[in-house]
Amino acid sequence: MFELANKRILLGVSGGIAAYKSADLVRRLRDAGAEVRVAMTAGATQFITPLTLQALSGQPVRTAVFDAEAEAAMGHIELARWADAVLIAPASANTLARLAQGLADDLLSTLCLATRAPLLVAPAMNQVMWEHPATQTNLALLRERGVHICGPGVGGQACGEFGPGRMLEPMELVAAVATLFSSGALAGLQVLITAGPTREPIDPVRFISNRSSGKMGYAVAVAAVEAGARVTLVSGPVALSPPEHVECIHVDTAAEMHAVVMARVQSSDLFIAAAAVADYRPQTVAEHKLKKQAAALQLGLQRTPDILAEVAALHPAPFTVGFAAETERLAEHARGKRMAKSLDMVAANLVNLPGQGFEADENALTLYWEGGECGLPRMSKTQLARELIAQIALRYQAKQQHQSGAADRHAEDTA
Ligand code: C5P
Repeated sequence: MFELANKRILLGVSGGIAAYKSADLVRRLRDAGAEVRVAMTAGATQFITPLTLQALSGQPVRTAVFDAEAEAAMGHIELARWADAVLIAPASANTLARLAQGLADDLLSTLCLATRAPLLVAPAMNQVMWEHPATQTNLALLRERGVHICGPGVGGQACGEFGPGRMLEPMELVAAVATLFSSGALAGLQVLITAGPTREPIDPVRFISNRSSGKMGYAVAVAAVEAGARVTLVSGPVALSPPEHVECIHVDTAAEMHAVVMARVQSSDLFIAAAAVADYRPQTVAEHKLKKQAAALQLGLQRTPDILAEVAALHPAPFTVGFAAETERLAEHARGKRMAKSLDMVAANLVNLPGQGFEADENALTLYWEGGECGLPRMSKTQLARELIAQIALRYQAKQQHQSGAADRHAEDTA
C-alpha cells in the first residue's frame, strides 16, 4: 500500500470496546509507511491507555485541548493542519453526533473542525444504537458534508448481540485510507462495463427503449481508466462520444449486449452493469412497418436475458456490480436485487427526483455490499463515478484478500 508512504494520518480514537483494535491499526498504518499521530477522547482512555498508542505510534498521544505541555510541542491547530487525512476509529455514536453538530468541546472534535484534510470515520457501536434514527440522521449529515463512512461490518458484537455495528478490521481501514491517495486503485485490472439503453425492435422503424442517456456508465468508464484499469465499454445507442483509452463496442439490443458481454467476461476482473437493459422485447419483429388499423394494438413481449445475473452466476465470476434504478423503497429493492442476483455490490438510485438520475448530469447513489453500505451524495456524474470506482476498488481488494486468506487456511488445513 505504497499510497500511504510518508502520509500523515491523524488517528482519532473514541470510547468503545473496539478501541482495542486501534493499537493494531496504528501498527498497520505505520507498516504501510504512514506517519501516525493519535488523539483520544476521554472515553477512549477508559478502554486503552494513551501509553500503548504512544509506544506504537512513536509519538506523544494527545487527549486534551488545554494541555500546556502538549500544546507547546504542537498546538492543536498545527496538528489539524499537519494531517493529510483524519481517521476516527472507532467512531462512537456520541462522537458521530458531536461531529454532526460541529461541537468543539474536546480535542478530537476541535481537530475535526480545524482541519481541511479528508475525514474518515469507522463507526462501532451496539446494533440498536447504529440503527437508531438519531445516529442515521447524523450519518446522513456527515455523508452530505463529504465525510467517508467506512463500514460498519455486520456480525457478533461484544455485547452479545448480532447485527451491524462492528468496526471494520484494521487492514480494511488502512485500505480505505490508502484509497484516498491512490491514483491507480484498479491498476492492471480488466474492467467490462455496460452503458446506455437497449432498443428492442417492433418493426423496421419502431422500437421499445428507455430514457437512459449512458452518461453514468460512460463516466464510470472514464473513472476506471483514471484508476489504471483497461476498460471495455459495451454501449447501447447514446449521443455520447466514446471516451479516450476505452475499447467501445456498440450494440442495439439486449441480445446483442448479452452476446458481447458473454464473449468478453472471461477475461474481465470486474463487471459493472450500468446499462438500462430492456427487460422485455417484442415476441416477433414485423418484417414491414406496421400500419395503423384497429383502435387498439396488442404487442406480445418476452423476457430478455438477464446479463448481470448470468455473469454473477459464472464460476469463477468477476467482481460484479449492478445498478438499481428505483422509484420507491430504495434500500429494500436494492438489497433484494443484490441477494437475488448474487452481486458483490449494488449501486442504487432514485430516478424520480428532479435534476438527478436518467438524462441528468448529476446523481446520488447508495452502495450496498455484504455487511455494509455507503451513501454517495448528489454530485456531478463525473465525480460520482470516481467515488464509485474508489469504493468498488476497496471492496474488490477486500474480497481478494478474503479469498487469498481462505485459500491459505484451506492449504493449512489440508497440509
Ligand atoms: O433487476 P433489474 O433489471 O432491475 O436490475 C438492474 C441491473 O441489472 C442493472 O445493473 C442492469 O444493467 C442489469 N440488467 C442486465 N440485463 C438485463 C436487465 C438488467 O444486465 N436484462
